[in-house]
Amino acid sequence: MAFESSEFLNRLATLEGIHPQQKRLFDRIDALRWNNSINQNWTQNMVLVGESGVGKTHLIRKYVSDSKLDHAGTKEGSVPILYLHSPLPFSLQALYLSINESLHNTVPKTSRLSFLDLQRETISLLAARDVAMIILDDAHNIGMSRNGPMFKVMDSMKHLSETANVALVLVGLEEIRGMVEGNCQYARRFPVLELHRFELDEDFVEFLHSLEEQISPLPVNLSNKKLAGVLYSLSEGLIGTLMPLIQLALRKMSLENSFERLTLDHFVHTLLDAKEALCIRQ
Ligand SMILES: Nc1ncnc2c1ncn2[C@@H]1O[C@H](COP(=O)(O)OP(=O)(O)O)[C@@H](O)[C@H]1O
Ligand SMILES: [Mg+2]
Repeated sequence: MAFESSEFLNRLATLEGIHPQQKRLFDRIDALRWNNSINQNWTQNMVLVGESGVGKTHLIRKYVSDSKLDHAGTKEGSVPILYLHSPLPFSLQALYLSINESLHNTVPKTSRLSFLDLQRETISLLAARDVAMIILDDAHNIGMSRNGPMFKVMDSMKHLSETANVALVLVGLEEIRGMVEGNCQYARRFPVLELHRFELDEDFVEFLHSLEEQISPLPVNLSNKKLAGVLYSLSEGLIGTLMPLIQLALRKMSLENSFERLTLDHFVHTLLDAKEALCIRQ
């Protein structure tokens, strides 16, 4: 079996599995956008939590890039979904500035613009650019806010979403749950969705299969029962550990040109070496 090495390495670098929760998450976000477009007086938001490395950012970015394709050709300058990283340290002012920056709007030096003016300007900019949803990644940074107590920040976020009729999707670590579930007003407006590690089940095998399809023909099948078990135990079901392991092991096999001699046991050894090289301690 002959492999075109550079082409194979390119495919490895862009390897993307279909996350089993992708459809559920995308459907939820679509429903949120639809709900807000027809119920303008009742802006709903959402929270997506999960431990580091479960694939939150990857999924959300995929949603944003898929939606860009859906909106190609709509009004020039309109940005239906705005994806932002939460500023650190977090402050509402930094958030508003970051919104302006992402929409390529130049605001006067902050010293010459009061906070309320900045807020007003941001809200009218969001309307002018048809922003219907802001996805705020690493939103646990809100917990390290310069704006005083958390409830004050959350009140302002709620105010922003209601005044601008923009759905907020807060994405981040488990801490965000505490920010919204402790208060019944936020709990209703910010329902929580959770992304988990894989279990060793058919979803995991499906995920491996979706990877395999992009790099076939391989002499070993990642979704083979024994290999799936090994990949699961080495990664403990965390995508952020699983992907670099697979990519590094396959890269090594490709560079050593050892695909033709590849057996299951040989591949398992290469995975163990990759684990060592990546300093994965589990
Ligand atoms: N569906 C996927 N296919 C391929 N790689 C993925 C997928 N989801 C996540 N990854 C990779 O796993 C790593 C961790 O994912 P990330 O989205 O950053 O996790 P989180 O935001 O939950 O910390 C990243 O390197 C990312 O590229
Ligand atoms: Mg992330």
